[in-house]
Amino acid sequence: MKPVTLSTLGALKRANEPFSCLTAYDVSFARAASRAGIEVLLVGDSLGMVLQGHTSTLPVTVDDICYHTACAARGKGESLLMVDVPFMSNATIESLLKDAGRLMRAGAEMVKVEGEAWMAEGVRELTRRGVPVCAHLGLTPQTVHQLGGYKVQGRDGATAKRILDDAKTLVDAGASIILLECVPASLGKTVTEALSVPVIGIGAGPDTDGQILVMHDVLGVTHGHTPRFVKNFMMDADSIPGAFERYHAAVKSRAFPAAEHCF
Ligand code: KIV
Repeated sequence: MKPVTLSTLGALKRANEPFSCLTAYDVSFARAASRAGIEVLLVGDSLGMVLQGHTSTLPVTVDDICYHTACAARGKGESLLMVDVPFMSNATIESLLKDAGRLMRAGAEMVKVEGEAWMAEGVRELTRRGVPVCAHLGLTPQTVHQLGGYKVQGRDGATAKRILDDAKTLVDAGASIILLECVPASLGKTVTEALSVPVIGIGAGPDTDGQILVMHDVLGVTHGHTPRFVKNFMMDADSIPGAFERYHAAVKSRAFPAAEHCF
């Protein structure tokens, strides 16, 4: 595999060829995922839940993410390494730029920010300084308390339109990728078709350009409630690298997500 860049992902979108993305938080799993062909690795703030045992992503600090970014960067191979900007780094443009700078120095190749159209200014300031941005819309886990739980977003016409409009605003501000979490499949399709940049989905239906899952969910290492969009690829695999290969192949062939994983 050649190094995956934003141009690679743009070309895949234009060719209507889906790409796979997976969270990774350390060198060994990043290396296994990269060797399985997974195009994008995300050092997600989900690490607060799956590594640290918190009930949300809010306690995760910039130091935590920098540590795991540096670990994952050593195993990322040719995959593109995306890294989450944690809760409240976006409190001011100054803290956003400072924290994103730390993440890029730790090994990030692009950052992911949560936030709606109001994040446009932050996206503009980051991109004009050479930091590529993925904007995360729909269910944004950093606002879980405001949303009243981990719920599907954009079910009605007005909120679906707002998500589409926010996506367009953020792309106009410079976002290179939009990530949509937990929205109806019809909205995932509409947003993907409306935008020139790649759209990555998690619980956003089969029509987004890329799919992403949390690594622990792919490996069936879950406890408590398992979201509808999750599939355990370890069930039919005999090794962790094998499960990653199966996930990648299922995304590439559009076998995943199936109707049972969609809203
Ligand atoms: O933090 C994370 O792992 C994420 C994915 C669920 C998209 O944001």
